[in-house]
Amino acid sequence: MSNDVVIEAWNTVLFEKFTRFKYLFIEGYASISDEALKRSQYAEDAKILDVGCGFGDCTIQIAKTLGAKGTAAGVDCASNFILECEKSAREDGVANAQFFVADVEADDLGGPYDEAFARFGTMFFNLPGLAMKNILQSLAPGGKFTQVVWRKREDNPWLHDAEKCVKAIVPVVSHDETDAVHCGPGPFSMAGPDMVSDMLQSVGFERIQFERFDSDICIGRNIEEAIQFALEIGPAGEIIRLAGEEGERLRGGVIESLQDVIGQYLRDDGSIWAPSSAWFITAYKPE
Ligand SMILES: C[S@@+](CC[C@H](N)C(=O)[O-])C[C@H]1O[C@@H](n2cnc3c(N)ncnc32)[C@H](O)[C@@H]1O
Repeated sequence: MSNDVVIEAWNTVLFEKFTRFKYLFIEGYASISDEALKRSQYAEDAKILDVGCGFGDCTIQIAKTLGAKGTAAGVDCASNFILECEKSAREDGVANAQFFVADVEADDLGGPYDEAFARFGTMFFNLPGLAMKNILQSLAPGGKFTQVVWRKREDNPWLHDAEKCVKAIVPVVSHDETDAVHCGPGPFSMAGPDMVSDMLQSVGFERIQFERFDSDICIGRNIEEAIQFALEIGPAGEIIRLAGEEGERLRGGVIESLQDVIGQYLRDDGSIWAPSSAWFITAYKPE
């Protein structure tokens, strides 16, 4: 199965959406990945792979903890993200952060890496088993793979509340029924520990562990921004976009119902913070 549709989506419509809300992602997601990264002590000369690196903020953060001989390599299937990563690394003066375009399911990832890390970079693979196998192959013996993924949707109201609200109003168009490009499996595709641990084990990883991490994340500096964010990002945004003209026609009704749903997370300073819940999954390549 070709990943062309998914790659085009990440390079175009999703790249534009993520760019519009870049500051929310970078700050909100950083509070989660900072916690996950605390659990790894990289050697000064380590080689680390950042899978599905997006804007590359984790790659650059990891590179800064390494010595001059260490490297952090960010890989993403979307060249537009990689161009942004290279620009940020240049502006930050971080020479040991490197970036390359590749489809993690299919392409050579280089290596061997001492560790691989992915913050929300593994939930959109059409064929996740192939991607996990490829990541395993890129690791040195004994290498550790840490993934941060969302837990079940019910514990992630920052995404799921808006999804429920949109589904009550807008007809859901499945990926098979549309020619529009789409992101592939959604943000909750790695939420089930049994499925994920079976998959990791079946490709050859061992010592698989799940740690739950809950925190509130900022989804808008005010309610208007939080509604805009909900309308564009995650399953809610995808349902409206894939519904085409009908989605646009119903947008007003959705905005009205989102006022109440999102309003419950309003803080005294006007910003919106909603609960989120992630897994930190670690697994090792056998020695
Ligand atoms: C939700 S974003 C996360 C980005 C970043 N890690 C972060 O936390 O901000 C998912 C990323 O995975 C990338 N991606 C999706 N499928 C991929 C594939 N098959 N190979 C490589 N990257 C992929 C997308 O382009 C996107 O940048």
